[in-house]
Amino acid sequence: MTAQQAEFVVVANRLPVDKAVLPDGEVSWKRSPGGLVTALEPILRSHTGAWVGWSGVPDSDDNPDIEGLDIRAVPLSSAEIAEYYEGFSNATLWPLYHDVIAKPEYHREWWNAYVAINERFAKATAEVAGPGALVWVQDYQLQLVPQMLRDLRPDLKIGFFLHIPFPPVELFMQLPWRREIVNGLLGADLIGFHLPDGAENFLYLANRLGGHQASRRSVGVRSRFGSVDVGDRVVTVGAFPISIASGEIDAASKSREIRKRAREIRKELGNPSTILLGVDRLDYTKGIDVRLKAVSELLEEQRLDPHETVLVQLATPSRERVESYVAMRSEIEQLVGHINGTFAEVGQPVVQYLNRPIPRDELLAFFVAADVMLVTPLRDGMNLVAKEYVACRSDLGGALVLSEFTGAAAELKQAYQANPYDMEGVKGAIEAAVKQPAEDGRARMRALRRQVLTHDVEKWAKSFLDTLQDSTDR
Ligand code: ADP
Ligand code: G6P
Repeated sequence: MTAQQAEFVVVANRLPVDKAVLPDGEVSWKRSPGGLVTALEPILRSHTGAWVGWSGVPDSDDNPDIEGLDIRAVPLSSAEIAEYYEGFSNATLWPLYHDVIAKPEYHREWWNAYVAINERFAKATAEVAGPGALVWVQDYQLQLVPQMLRDLRPDLKIGFFLHIPFPPVELFMQLPWRREIVNGLLGADLIGFHLPDGAENFLYLANRLGGHQASRRSVGVRSRFGSVDVGDRVVTVGAFPISIASGEIDAASKSREIRKRAREIRKELGNPSTILLGVDRLDYTKGIDVRLKAVSELLEEQRLDPHETVLVQLATPSRERVESYVAMRSEIEQLVGHINGTFAEVGQPVVQYLNRPIPRDELLAFFVAADVMLVTPLRDGMNLVAKEYVACRSDLGGALVLSEFTGAAAELKQAYQANPYDMEGVKGAIEAAVKQPAEDGRARMRALRRQVLTHDVEKWAKSFLDTLQDSTDR
């Protein structure tokens, strides 16, 4: 397959693999962090095509060899990483779109870098895409690419999917470049969000800021799409909740090796009666502090027994040069120290905290071993970890504590849901999950699994791509 002929192109800030240069100069590639790559990687295994993205290190245009995939690295300099990636993407847009949990910073130089890098991604995509190709642009880092690409290549079918929440109108209005972002997105033929609310907020803004005629009726899930008239084009807007390769994860979690490893993990933790588990990028949106405080108070109030409870928090490092991430890390590490200092015995920590990425199979073994999974974000577009946990529980064991403010909460109704701002509510949900009657737990897990196994990432991709095809055939 030559680059010019790609009929299907994914464009994302990150490539599916991350480059690491070892001290001896040797190069290795490992899986990139985050839910976007988790979701799209299996899709790209079943569709041949090209992937345009950044390798995760400065000044690299190496294209790693991945079978069936034409990789096109977009190089970024250190200054561009600081202004476009750490700056505008992760210190302006990320906090703005996540309920301003951290205060967004607005800097004109960051915006200029965002425009320039979006232009670079659009040009790289225009070179790779064959005539009439289907191009799928991903996420908040690349919201200007749809219109830039349309200007360069009006023959392409362009879809855009936002992997994070689209904010309430009042918050979006803070953004000095709000019109440019709305018009950038409107270059797509189809714009997808996780939830109907996000799609409806966008439709309102397309009218208010873009001055376009936009539909007003409510948007459904994978149905009842909205539309915006942009000149002689109609842009379709819809809700497509993302998912995981549920079948693959379910099958992997049943393997003898993973079951065995799960038993070993319990033993290595000292055979406690309750293993609580958190698995996240170390991000202030994830509410890692919320669950640590809740567990600390439950131990204090003797509603959890420190001799019978272990909380494992696996937190992979993320965006480590962005200030709010540095602050969050030290807050979490202090909380871990406080809990262990107060409740642990020598050789028996209550919280086991690992600040590094965990290999995939090991992670699945942790999901199989955990009695209660703690997913407590203050805001999250979807949260795939919640779905991964459910996919691993073919034994119908375990319980899921889930924040109401995740996209997943709309689908995973039988979880122990809580408002992460309501500390007593979170504690109540954790306690109920720890003490659930076995039969109730099995019934809940059965219902959760039905949802996750019948709505996998293949279904998500198919519904998005079919809608894109229909909207461009009209
Ligand atoms: P986000 O995209 O914001 O990081 P998601 O929950 O949607 O959040 O996706 C996170 C992905 O990263 C999941 O596939 C999860 O298994 C993986 N992941 C999260 N934490 C770790 C970790 N500590 N080690 C390895 N993988 C992790
Ligand atoms: C979330 C975002 C992705 C991002 C991932 C990891 O899933 O939606 O776009 O790739 O986090 O973050 P990072 O900044 O390391 O790419």
